[in-house]
Amino acid sequence: MSTPALGRIIMWTSRPKGRNEDSVREWRMKGAGGEAAYGSRVALVTGANRGLGLETCRQLLARGLRVVMTGRNEDATKQALRGIGQTREGGKAIALRLDVTDPASIEAARGAAEEQLGAIDVLVNNAALLLFEDGDVLSIPKEGFQRTLETNLLGVIETCRVFVPPMAARGHGRVVNVSSGVGQLAKLSTYAPAYAISKVALNALTRILSETYRDRGVLVNAVNPGWVRTDMGGPEAPRSVEQGVDTAVWLATLPDDGPSGAFFRDRQRIEW
Ligand SMILES: NC(=O)c1ccc[n+]([C@@H]2O[C@H](COP(=O)([O-])OP(=O)(O)OC[C@H]3O[C@@H](n4cnc5c(N)ncnc54)[C@H](OP(=O)(O)O)[C@@H]3O)[C@@H](O)[C@H]2O)c1
Repeated sequence: MSTPALGRIIMWTSRPKGRNEDSVREWRMKGAGGEAAYGSRVALVTGANRGLGLETCRQLLARGLRVVMTGRNEDATKQALRGIGQTREGGKAIALRLDVTDPASIEAARGAAEEQLGAIDVLVNNAALLLFEDGDVLSIPKEGFQRTLETNLLGVIETCRVFVPPMAARGHGRVVNVSSGVGQLAKLSTYAPAYAISKVALNALTRILSETYRDRGVLVNAVNPGWVRTDMGGPEAPRSVEQGVDTAVWLATLPDDGPSGAFFRDRQRIEW
């Protein structure tokens, strides 16, 4: 092992323990509410043409943010934009093609978004696939894991690669990774193994990204929306999309002293 690598490990392990817990606690004690001061910021949401992504856009727009709705199908995303309208003065939404598995489309979306609305302050990594829901872990073909991880994990990494460093350079940003209770390591079951593994990995990414950008004004958190009535969740799910996105919208509009590197459900911190 080279000396610089060892140096990094020593620096990391010597960090004060429990820093994430402390930041959440301090922030709660201060009673910071978020949202209020967030109008005029620019938010980009992936997988925004339907489901939780679409409702996230609707609620961010209603709070006065400018919103970049993105989807891998441009027509469907433009149709979704027409559906939500421009609901509040100051708020504005546009629709762009962005396939999280196509890095060129992410770069192109960044250029178009910056030209039309300005630099991205908030990134909501919402797009995901749920494949082989009922399969036994070893019955899922390699391609099933590859497709799942390509979208749910690598797609988030590639999207962050484009949008997060510019946030850090400006000293301000919010990243919300839409995870799942299915990816809660403490409660793993045999349900949807490829999807569950992708969400566990997404949670790991959340913590690493949070640590990487902790001192540069970028707050990175993961959210479990609960079981929600969408195409993915199905009609039997107990939660509405409005309930499902509440915590993601809250995390997207945190004040500067808000938490980072944590996993939330219903605005409460949950274990990984
Ligand atoms: N619904 C639930 O009960 C539930 C529970 C826990 C977590 N979640 C999470 O919540 C998020 C949203 O889920 P949802 O219920 O709204 O699911 P959904 O209705 O199936 O929507 C998924 C969205 O992801 C998009 N997408 C898939 N692959 C993409 C790609 N390569 N590039 C860009 N967009 C892509 C889809 O676009 P297309 O229309 O083009 O396919 C669609 O817009 C996901 O991260 C999911 O894991 C949902």
